[in-house]
Amino acid sequence: MNNNILCIGAGYVGGPTMAMIAYKCHDINVTIVDINQDRIDAWNSDELPIYEPGLEEVVKSRRDKNLFFSTDIEKGIIDNDIIFVSVNTPTKTFGHGAGYAADLQYWEKCARHIREVANSDKIVIEKSTLPVRTAAAMARILAHGSKNTQFTVLSNPEFLAEGTAIEDLQNPDRVLIGGPQTEQGKYAIEKLATIYGQWVDDKKILRTNLWSSELSKLTANAFLAQRVSSINSISALCEKTEADVSEVAHAIGADKRIGPKFLKASIGFGGSCFKKDILNLVYICETYGLTECADYWKQVVIMNEYQESRFVARMLKAMFNTIAGKKIAILGFAFKADTGDTRESPAIKVCRELLQENAIITISDPQALKSAKNDLADVANFENIIFEANPYKAAKDAHAIALLTDWQNYKELDFKKIYEAMEKPAFFFDGRNHIDSQMLYDIGFNVYTIGQTEKTHI
Ligand code: NAD
Ligand code: UGA
Repeated sequence: MNNNILCIGAGYVGGPTMAMIAYKCHDINVTIVDINQDRIDAWNSDELPIYEPGLEEVVKSRRDKNLFFSTDIEKGIIDNDIIFVSVNTPTKTFGHGAGYAADLQYWEKCARHIREVANSDKIVIEKSTLPVRTAAAMARILAHGSKNTQFTVLSNPEFLAEGTAIEDLQNPDRVLIGGPQTEQGKYAIEKLATIYGQWVDDKKILRTNLWSSELSKLTANAFLAQRVSSINSISALCEKTEADVSEVAHAIGADKRIGPKFLKASIGFGGSCFKKDILNLVYICETYGLTECADYWKQVVIMNEYQESRFVARMLKAMFNTIAGKKIAILGFAFKADTGDTRESPAIKVCRELLQENAIITISDPQALKSAKNDLADVANFENIIFEANPYKAAKDAHAIALLTDWQNYKELDFKKIYEAMEKPAFFFDGRNHIDSQMLYDIGFNVYTIGQTEKTHI
């Protein structure tokens, strides 16, 4: 068995994780394959398909040395004995479990492809986020090959967050490897642990059984999202009571048992995974007849949807219950700062609801304008949307600004200049608790910050 690595799926996870392995382990050849030719071409070009701070440097330093991007999946399977599968596992949109269960068709296709093509023993590693016990199904599919090859399935979920992927991969809180508790399984776990061990302290490499590993990934995302929904539920109460959610978050986060992270109230969590993974967890609980557990986790998603809707309702109420024909500047469309990714971004829902009210919206974002165009391509009044990279131009003549992504450069804008170029009264809706609300109020804005009572002029 050779040490060379293949990764099937060159997306937000496959690209950065494999680039990091190549960066840290010069003795290992790493090949990333995908069915999407455009994506592979982009990985091989000067303009990578995803924006991620630090990624370009890592890719460029190892590309065509020990890091390769290709669409030749079969050659990849034949040449490499360690195969990560990092394809998408979206929420099912059809049939049984639609709207909740994970759609495993892409994963299963890969397993069958590996089985058909492989002519030597392989370690097949789940990098995608999968329902607990998926590895059992994969092992069964792989076991039915006609050749005399052995497959060992491991689970090695990825915990990186977009925007900080390179930092997270360089210095992970932990690397989790789950595998069968057999001699063959333990051998495979150690083989993978040795690769990570080239830059990660062994104490941080956790070895578990397969099911614990699969379930830990879903659980980690559920807990993180739950914290956001919890503080967001408190933000609604703060707006009614003159408590300030940042102060509350700071006060509770000082308790070591609670901790300060993931307590930033916002317009809601976005991203391709939180919602999908919680819904998947809900579905699994239901499948096992655990209705109360399912309902408990479902509430995290319900709270998130409530947070998005009440933001627009607050805007409407503040602006005299009509925004038809009014220009509204949207600052930020990505689901968080430092990424161009807009999957499940709260901005999508907010913009759609504003357009339903016949507002004219000008969307600005440093990285996500192309995706924003795609996300809103089907709205009936698409002509009411302007895409403008420059935030000053976006805000000119606007009645209101809605800040939806916490980009650092928004903190540095000259809000006095922006205010002067706007219609009056000028409104500022801060969906990220990102800009000093007193400063905005003093300039003249009517300010509506998540988790604070509004600051309005007569
Ligand atoms: P993605 O959509 O960006 O990338 C998946 C890639 O797989 C696509 O490029 C697609 O073309 C390719 N693909 C699909 N079927 C294929 C096949 N049969 N053969 C070859 N390529 C195929 O998705 P992503 O964001 O990278 O997520 C991948 C997995 O990782 C998901 O399960 C996700 O839940 C999980 N995850 C994502 C993140 C994140 O930050 N995005 C973090 C941790 C875990
Ligand atoms: C999240 C997890 O943090 C990763 O560990 C995990 O690997 C990944 O999902 C995944 O499985 O895809 P990601 O979605 O990239 O990472 O980004 P986060 O930093 O977790 O933010 C998610 C959303 O929550 C963003 O919209 C962010 O703005 C929001 N958020 C986060 C808040 O509103 N408040 C907070 O305090 C933190």
